[in-house]
Order: sequence, then structure tokens, then C-alpha cells
Amino acid sequence: MNETLDKLYKNPDNKNIEENFQFILFGGTGDLAHNKIIPAFYNLAAKDILPNQYTIIATGRRYDNKKEYLDALYNSLVNKKGKVDNRIWQLLADHIDYFQLSFKDDNDFKRLKNNLENKAKKEKVSDRIFYLATAPNFFAEIAKKLKSFGLLDVALENNKARLVIEKPFGHDFKSAKKLNDTLTNIFSEKNIFRIDHYLGKEMIQNIMVIRLSNPIFRALWNKDHIDNIQIYLNESEGVKDRGKYYDDAGVIKDMFQNHILQVLSLIAMEEPENLTAKEISDKKVEVFKELADNDLSNIDRHIVRGQYDSEQVDGEKINSYQEEKGIDPQSKTATFLALKLFLNNERWQGVPIYLKSGKRLNKKEAAIAVEFKDDFHSAYLDQKNIDNNLLLIKIQPEEGVSLRFNTRKPASNNKIIPVEMEFCQSCQQFFNSPENYEGLIYDMIAGDKTLFTSWEEVCYSWKFIDKIQAKCEEENITLHKYPALSQGPDAADKLLETDGRSWLDKD
Ligand SMILES: NC(=O)c1ccc[n+]([C@@H]2O[C@H](COP(=O)([O-])OP(=O)(O)OC[C@H]3O[C@@H](n4cnc5c(N)ncnc54)[C@H](OP(=O)(O)O)[C@@H]3O)[C@@H](O)[C@H]2O)c1
Repeated sequence: MNETLDKLYKNPDNKNIEENFQFILFGGTGDLAHNKIIPAFYNLAAKDILPNQYTIIATGRRYDNKKEYLDALYNSLVNKKGKVDNRIWQLLADHIDYFQLSFKDDNDFKRLKNNLENKAKKEKVSDRIFYLATAPNFFAEIAKKLKSFGLLDVALENNKARLVIEKPFGHDFKSAKKLNDTLTNIFSEKNIFRIDHYLGKEMIQNIMVIRLSNPIFRALWNKDHIDNIQIYLNESEGVKDRGKYYDDAGVIKDMFQNHILQVLSLIAMEEPENLTAKEISDKKVEVFKELADNDLSNIDRHIVRGQYDSEQVDGEKINSYQEEKGIDPQSKTATFLALKLFLNNERWQGVPIYLKSGKRLNKKEAAIAVEFKDDFHSAYLDQKNIDNNLLLIKIQPEEGVSLRFNTRKPASNNKIIPVEMEFCQSCQQFFNSPENYEGLIYDMIAGDKTLFTSWEEVCYSWKFIDKIQAKCEEENITLHKYPALSQGPDAADKLLETDGRSWLDKD
């Protein structure tokens, strides 16, 4: 790699993070910290894009001292990565402090304030990031204590104390608003960073580039040329040890309210005038508002709910959802949802948008399929079943783009056959896809909000989800059982068959 390329790779957008930031990690001993946040810091350290001076202050109760904590972090890194470069680890470990603290003990917050003050007396601190990697019921309580115990008053060079909130942000519109009111009494909206880790994914960040920097797509990105859009986020795993959380949330809150609607907003939004976080968010909000205004009177014909059932696979029984740990054996929570909707605006009027997500499906696969209209020259209309052009943006596990188009079958009498042009980003020999949290952490320290969700986005997405939930209850929408590790309920296929279409993720 030459020097310029190397720099670009290390810091593609030339964002700036300043010397001497402090990163206070509440929940620093939890699963997220061990498996995502600290590994992301490790990768950033490996790329040599962190400043010389910075401190991560991780809080938790379970370890008594810094050595125990660092040993546990190191073991988690080895488990995750297989191999850890000890030089990089040491570089990172030198910047990590452990602070034993209980959220319930006011005295611990006073001690933490003193700790921050002592550090600030010794050296100027540029930015201070308070990251709440904790269960959601602690979000408001910790934020209030940061204020009431004066942690937000400790000297700061850039005067930009930020709050980072993990998902889920509320469990419906009412609870999300209540949380937001509390937080915005303490931090301004511009300093609140709400995480949707899907926005950290490489191909999600690629959506706007694909849409806006390619005239061949940009010119066709509307109802005149696009027949339908499909977004599917399929998971093969069950609920694992998240049973209690999942049984309250279900697929609609776990995947739709945040990830799927975020992806949809990037696909469907009007073109932003510039690439500032505010402008992009404003354009996304227009989509969320339209969704919230969506007429759901036909919901019984536009939605399929499902729940996985047990199944024998290779002589082994796969548990049904109701048999999973932490799940009510009578649970009616949907683990699968397929939804057809329309956006009633100039660009998309009449274009069906099909959304789908489920657990325990036959394969893990997330992608966006944009199928173009069958607008062929009349000379070819006598050839039956010409495939429509198809743009497929593959999010995971493979990251890439494929484009299906038609060509002449060699040595035939102008017979048309479909072919695919394929770009596999994750297959590139030297490409090592960054962890989602790597970019997100870098951006929160740099103060760039583009990959974080604004309150308005969250607000209108909840209004839409609340409306769907209410309608489903009102109309008593069927919960279809589907065998674990299958393609989901047959009813989801019928949803598209009645429109003369089929899901594009089918084998
Ligand atoms: N895990 C993931 O992959 C993942 C993915 C996406 C989003 N999230 C979100 O991230 C957040 C954290 O999830 P997690 O999986 O890391 O949870 P977790 O493993 O249960 O960790 C919870 C953390 O909170 C701390 N904690 C709990 N009660 C405390 C108290 N009273 N006083 C002080 N510390 C306390 C725990 O520390 P001690 O036990 O040491 O006190 C631990 O560090 C959640 O909002 C979750 O929805 C997680």
C-alpha cells in the first residue's frame, strides 16, 4: 500500500479526534464492552489512528481491581480474535482505567467526579464521552446522576460532554419520549448519540454512495423505473440467552423499529443537498413521518407474523421458540414478520416495499433488493420471462453488490439470458471489514453524528411501530408457526405471490 492509500485506509474521511479525550464506559464489564467496544478500540489502536493521550475509564462492580479487569478483557479479546498482538494490546491497555462503581451508590458518583477532576487538574481534557453500555432501565438514572453529582461540570477544553446511548431507546413512543425528555434536560440533542449498530455496517454506509454517485442508479431511483424494493434481515440463530428481553420486544421492536426502518430510510429518502449529519437526518425523518402517517387499513393483507416451532435437523431437535430459555411457554411473541407497505410520495407512489426479518431461518442473510420494471423494447416482448434488472446490496454475511442484466445467449437467435455482475467487497484479498463499532466509536469521539439516530427518527419510527402493534392486536392477526431453520411461514410467500412477485432471497 502506498502512503496516501495507507492514510486513507486508516482514516478515510480525515475526521479529527483530539488528544486527551476521556471515554467513560458505564457497563465496562458487560458483554457489549468485552465483545464489541474494547475489540473496536483494539482495532483502532492497531490502525494507529488514536491519539497519544486518551483515557478509557471503564466502570462495573464485578472486578476488584484494574489487573483483574484487564486480564478479563485480554481473555475476551483472545476468545474473539483467536490471536492478539501483544504490542497493540499493551498500547491499548496503557490507556484503560477501571473504576468500581454501583449505579445505585451516590457516593460512587461523587468519587468518580473527584477522579475526573483530579485528572483534569493534571492535564487538559479535550472531549468527554459518557457511554451507557448498560441495561436500558439505567439510562435515565445514570444521566440524572451525571448532572446532579456535577460530573458534567468538570473542566473540559471543548466543552462538549457527549452521551452515548445503546439500544433499545424506549419500548414504545411514550417510553422513548419520556427517556428523551429526561436526557434532553441534561444534554443537548447535538451531544446525544443514539446507537443503531446497523448504521456502522459497511454496506449500509455504502447505500448513499451507490444511490447518489452512480448516474445509472440515480436517474432510475423512482416509481417510473423501480418495480419493487425488498429488504430482508434474516437470522439463523434463536434467541440464545436474550430470552427475557426478546420475549418483550419480539422481531418488530428488535429488528423493525430500528435496523430495518433505518435501512429503508436510506434507500427511500429524497436526495440530501449535502452530506452533513443534520441534512441526512432531515431527509430520513421525512420517510419516517410518511411511515407514521401510513394508512394501515389493509394490514391484515399486508402483514405476516410468525413464530418458530421445533424441528428435527440431522437427528437433533431444535427447540421451538416457546421452549427457549427465558420464554413464556405460552408466548405469542412474533419471531418473524413480513410487511408490505407503500410510501405515498412523488418518488415512490405505487411501488411496493416488502420488509422481512425472522429468527431461526434457514440462513443468515441481510440484503436490499431493488428490482427494476420490465420496460423492455417491444422487439423483445415475445420472449417470455425475461428477468427484470436487479440491484442487490448485500449487507451480511457477504458484503457486496450484484447487478443482474440481460444479454444475448451466445450463438442463439437473439435469445435473451440474464447474467450477473458481481462485486464482492468482503472477498477482496486484503480487505478486512471493520467491526461495526469501530467506525461508530471513532465517530462519537470525533463528534460526527451521521451514523447515529436523531430523536425525530426515533420518535416517528416508534409512532409507526406502535400503530402496527395496535392494528395487529385490534385485528387479531394470525401468528403462523414455521419450522425452525426453514424459510419462514408459507404465508409470507403468498404475500408476494398475490402480487405476481417472489422474495428475492429464495434459493
Ligand atoms: N451484548 C451485545 O452484543 C449488545 C448488542 C447491542 C446492544 N446491546 C445493548 O447494550 C447494553 C448492555 O448490554 P450487555 O449485553 O453488555 O449487558 P450485560 O452483559 O448484562 O452488562 C451490563 C453491564 O452493566 C453493569 N451493571 C449492571 N447493573 C449495575 C449496577 N447496579 N451498578 C453498576 N453496574 C451495573 C454490569 O456490571 P457488573 O455486573 O460488573 O456490575 C455490566 O458491566 C444493553 O442496553 C443492550 O441492549 C448489547
